[in-house]
Amino acid sequence: MINYKMKLSELIQQYIPQLELKEIQDLLEIPPNTEMGDFAFPCFKLAKTLKKSPQIIAEELVNKIDIPNYVERVKNTGPYLNFFLDRKYFVQDIVQEVLKSRSKYGAQNIGDGKTICIDFSAPNIAKPFHVGHLRSTVIGNALYRIHNYLGYNCIGINHLGDWGTQFGKVIVAYKNWGVKEEIEKDPINTLLNLYVKFHDEAVNKPSLEDEAREWFVKMEAGDEEALSLWKWFSTETLKELKKIYEILGVSFDYFTGESFYNDKIDSVINELKGKSLLKESEGATLVDLDEYNMPPCLVQKKDGSTLYATRDIAAALYRKNNYDFEKCIYVTDYSQNLHFSQWFKVIELMGYTWANDLVHVPFGRVTHEGKRIQTRKGTVVLLEDVLTGAIERVKEIVEEKNPNLNNKEQVAKDVGVGAVIFNDLSNNRIKDISFSWDTAFSFEGETGPYVQYTHARACSVLKKSNQNVDADVNYDLLTDDITVDVVRLIQQFPQVILDAQRKNEPSLITRYVVDLAQAFNRFYNQHHINVEDQELKKARLAIVESSKLVIKNALDLLGIKAPEEM
Ligand code: ARG
Repeated sequence: MINYKMKLSELIQQYIPQLELKEIQDLLEIPPNTEMGDFAFPCFKLAKTLKKSPQIIAEELVNKIDIPNYVERVKNTGPYLNFFLDRKYFVQDIVQEVLKSRSKYGAQNIGDGKTICIDFSAPNIAKPFHVGHLRSTVIGNALYRIHNYLGYNCIGINHLGDWGTQFGKVIVAYKNWGVKEEIEKDPINTLLNLYVKFHDEAVNKPSLEDEAREWFVKMEAGDEEALSLWKWFSTETLKELKKIYEILGVSFDYFTGESFYNDKIDSVINELKGKSLLKESEGATLVDLDEYNMPPCLVQKKDGSTLYATRDIAAALYRKNNYDFEKCIYVTDYSQNLHFSQWFKVIELMGYTWANDLVHVPFGRVTHEGKRIQTRKGTVVLLEDVLTGAIERVKEIVEEKNPNLNNKEQVAKDVGVGAVIFNDLSNNRIKDISFSWDTAFSFEGETGPYVQYTHARACSVLKKSNQNVDADVNYDLLTDDITVDVVRLIQQFPQVILDAQRKNEPSLITRYVVDLAQAFNRFYNQHHINVEDQELKKARLAIVESSKLVIKNALDLLGIKAPEEM
C-alpha cells in the first residue's frame, strides 16, 4: 500500500527543494471536504523565500508538476495546491492490501520488541470493583492491545490495592460485626458493607480508628492473626475479581499487588536515606518537594507503617530491574495526578534518568447519574451489576428481535459487555463521564452495539453471497463517491492506531470505527450487493469484506468482540 502522504511530499519536493521533506509532510493536509481533493498543500510558507504571492506559486506549480499514475489531477485553489488521487488506483491499492493482510491490516512494527509495562485496573481488595476501576481496566486493556499491535512487548500488571490501612479497618469491623459464612458467600459485597459500617460507627466512636491503625501496624510487623485474616480477605476477593475479568475478557501478565513489595520496602528506604533524600517531620519520614512546588512525599508514617507512594516507588524499581521497560504506563483517574508527580520526582531525585519513562495516563471521574462514586458512603455502582444488567438487557432485545439466533447466550454476553466497554472508551479519556444505564446500552447512535451490528450485517451479506471474495475485481466499478468514502476511511486506519498510541487515547479508535461503520452503512443502503451482474457483485463484495475486516480489527484493539450474527 502506498504511503500517499509520503509519496506526494517527495513529488512536491522535486519542485520546491527549498523545503525539507519533513516540512512538506507536515504542511500537507487532508482538506475538510473531498471536493478540495484528497490532499492539499498550502503555499504560504514559500511566499517569503520565493518572493511571490502564494496564489502565484500555486498556479506555477500546477503547470509544472508532472502527474504520476496514482494522481488523477492537481488543481490550484487560491494559495492551495489540491491533489486528487486516481480513484481506481487508490481503491485497488487499499483493497488489495486489506484482503492480503486481513487481521494484520493496520499492524506495524514501531515497537521493535521493546517492553512497555502497563499498570491498570488495580482495584482495592475489601473495597468494591466499581465503574471507576472499569475505566482503568478498559483503557489499560486497549492500550495494551494497541501497543502490542504496534510491535511492543507488553507487560500488563494489576497493582491490586491489597495492603494499607483499610485492612486495619476491615479487620476491626470483621471482629466486631462480621460473619465468616457471609464473606465466603459474597466476599466483595460483605467486605464492602463491613467497611461502610466501620465508617458509620467511627463517627461516634473515634477510638475505632486507632484500633484500625494498630491492626495495620500489626500486619506490617508480621502478626499471624492479622496476616491470616488479610490473606483470607484477599483470596476470597481475588476469586471474585477473576470472574469479572473473565466476563470482560481482560487478562494480566502479573497480579502483583501492593503487598508484593513488602519485603522490598526496607531497601528502598535505605537507598533514600543513603542518597540523603529523607527528612523527619513530626515523627514521620518524607521526601521534601518544596523546591518543586509540591507537598512532601510521605514514605513512612510516625507509627512506622508505609504508604501507597512508598510501595509505588518500590514497584517502579522492581519493574525497571526485572523488565527493563522502555516505558511504564499508569492508568488511574486524574485525582491521583499529584501522587504520581510526587513519586516520579522522587525517582528522579534518586538519580534515575528513566524517571522520564514513567507515564501517568489520567482519565476523568465517573459519576453515576450525576453523583460521585464514593466507597465509604456506600453509593457505588458495582461493576458486576452493570455487566450482568447489560447482558440481561441484550438478551431481552435478542428474544424480541431475533429469537432464533444461534448461540444466544454468547452473543448477549459479547454485545452487553461490548456496549459497556465501548461506552467507556467513547469519550476523550480526560473528560468526566456520567454513567447512566440508558446511554450505556443504547443500540442506536455512536455505540458499541451499533458497530457490532454493522459488522454482523457485513458478515451476513458475505454469507448470503455464497462466494469467495478476493481482490481480483474490476476496480472501475468502485469509483463512486460513497464507495471511495469507505475506502478513504479504511486507508486512515494505520495512522489512527499510531495516533492512539502516541496520545494514549483509545477513544480515537472508538470514534474512527463509528465513522467507518456509518460510511459502510451508507454504502450498504445505496448499493445492492448481491446483484445479478456477477462482475459488479464481486467488486462490491470486496468492499464489504474489507470493511468487515477493518471493523473487526478496530474492535479487537478496543477489547470488544465482534459476533458474526446478532
Ligand atoms: N488501587 C489504586 C486505586 O484504586 C490504583 C492503583 C494504580 N496503580 C499504581 N501503581 N498506583 O486507586
